[in-house]
Amino acid sequence: MRFDVVTIFPEFFSGPLSCGLLKRAMAAGVASVFIHNLRDYAEGAHLQVDDTPYGGGPGMVMKPEPIWRAIESLSAVGEEKPLVILLSPQGSRLDQATAFRYATARRLLLISGRYEGVDHRVAEHMVDEELSIGDYVLAGGEIAALVVIEAVTRLIPGAVGNPDSVKAESFVEGILDYPQYTRPPEFRRWGVPEELLSGNHARVDRWRHEQAEKRTRINRPDLFHHVHG
Ligand code: ADE
Repeated sequence: MRFDVVTIFPEFFSGPLSCGLLKRAMAAGVASVFIHNLRDYAEGAHLQVDDTPYGGGPGMVMKPEPIWRAIESLSAVGEEKPLVILLSPQGSRLDQATAFRYATARRLLLISGRYEGVDHRVAEHMVDEELSIGDYVLAGGEIAALVVIEAVTRLIPGAVGNPDSVKAESFVEGILDYPQYTRPPEFRRWGVPEELLSGNHARVDRWRHEQAEKRTRINRPDLFHHVHG
């Protein structure tokens, strides 16, 4: 999988890409990530990437031309055309099903917006999808792009040590994960549920299923009703 990211803060990405799963996936050749500075696609004496909004209002809006040039230029490299995604709070919301869909693409081109917004012609005419990572507003799409890269990379075969850990986790079954415990069996008088210490697999499975359902019902009634009609 190849990821290209267009951003005005390329340096934002160096820390997250240099540890853990992403570092390993890149070293193993399972994923490659190329970070591009939007300013490299700007023109004029000031290499301007933003401007004041038509109609007035606070803040600045990202100009369409540098983004267009970045998409044109980056789509032309490599063998595959990328799926082009604009990160913005106005997009459709990322979920695990979307991450699985992206993991089947060969290339993703992620555009991180900044400032108060991005000229709407970008969303309307230049990208395949507009994506939000959740119902809150970030200062820009950089963290959102990293969220997509990590959520997708760990689904690529060979990126995660144990593929079973991807199959069994939260959301894959439409509900949350069951609670996990490890040693010691008692810590500050807080015990581990006896079902898990019983050695009885059927009992363990039943307990885990009940707990996963209970947790989903309490913490995420939206998911629970989706699964249970
Ligand atoms: N940029 C700002 N907020 C965002 C969000 N919630 N998702 C994606 N990009 C964003």
